[in-house]
Amino acid sequence: MAKDIQTIGVLTSGGDAPGMNAAIRAVVRQAIVKGKKVKGIKRGYAGLLQEEIIDMQACDVSDIIQRGGTILQTARCKDFTTEEGQQKGAEICRKHGIDGVIVIGGDGSFKGAQKLASLGINTIGIPGTIDLDIACTEYTIGFDTAVNTAMEAIDKVRDTSTSHERCSIIEVMGRGAGYIALWCGIANGAEDILLPEKYNYDEQALVNNIINNRKKGKKHHIVINAEGIGHSASMAKRIESATGVETRATILGHMQRGGSPTCKDRVYASTMGAYAVDLLCQGKSNRVVGYRDGEYVDFDIDEALAMQKGISDYQFEICRNLSL
Ligand code: ADP
Ligand code: F6P
Repeated sequence: MAKDIQTIGVLTSGGDAPGMNAAIRAVVRQAIVKGKKVKGIKRGYAGLLQEEIIDMQACDVSDIIQRGGTILQTARCKDFTTEEGQQKGAEICRKHGIDGVIVIGGDGSFKGAQKLASLGINTIGIPGTIDLDIACTEYTIGFDTAVNTAMEAIDKVRDTSTSHERCSIIEVMGRGAGYIALWCGIANGAEDILLPEKYNYDEQALVNNIINNRKKGKKHHIVINAEGIGHSASMAKRIESATGVETRATILGHMQRGGSPTCKDRVYASTMGAYAVDLLCQGKSNRVVGYRDGEYVDFDIDEALAMQKGISDYQFEICRNLSL
């Protein structure tokens, strides 16, 4: 028989992402509308193990939909990757009367949710990461804001790059994935994009492209380098000496993780937060919310974690074509 959930715990885990607050707000308020109690678990699984658990009312999530970061704080917690830590986490949930937990985070965080589910605590995952690297969903909370932040920053670098007739290597986040780099590559009209999924480490091809573009009269050369490839500073030095074109490296870094969420991030995060509560109310567990083909959907976490995601060959190709 499906478990009747009375109290829902909510936590954010892994890297923060703009829109996480909108998701927390939606979880708290949809749960209250459905007659459930809500407890906020601070600092992800680390806070769970430290019993940093607070009651949450509708007013506790006032004035946060527009804020970046996460009011619950977030953390990475090694102890929770052990069986002992997971059992302790499930025990603490029981002690606090938490019978369902909503985990907002990435793949790593979903593995934690999977473990809690196997120990009898109903869990639902919501994809929250700027990296867009979760295979079961076309959207992850924070990507839209992050990619817009990066795009605006790259436009600014481009201005000065053009004035000085330089080559600029701009490194964007994404962990092992190249989605931020691909989107910025297209949106910023970059001459080259280096993605972990596609790069063959043929730096000579890059050098040739810079030299050819110079001959054609291009005044700048923007290379978007995904952090999964990295080493932008040393790459800049090698490129400058191989091409004779003055080259600078810019690493955008954590600015990509902050800021007020875009409308898209607020709306999707709100919908996913409410959807996760509805799944728990239906007695579901070990599920992750996703967005596919225009609809909000959910998958078994085991299946979701086994899915593979790739970069679109077509978008990669047109990014190059359009910067001709
Ligand atoms: P993300 O959720 O963004 O992928 P991480 O991979 O850093 O971020 O994972 C966040 C947290 O999830 C980890 O610090 C850990 O507490 C938990 N976690 C990750 N992998 C596992 C696992 N295999 N089992 C249990 N918990 C895990
Ligand atoms: O997963 C989000 C992310 O920002 C990645 O893009 C990046 O690799 C990582 O987190 C950085 O983590 P930290 O905040 O620990 O430096």
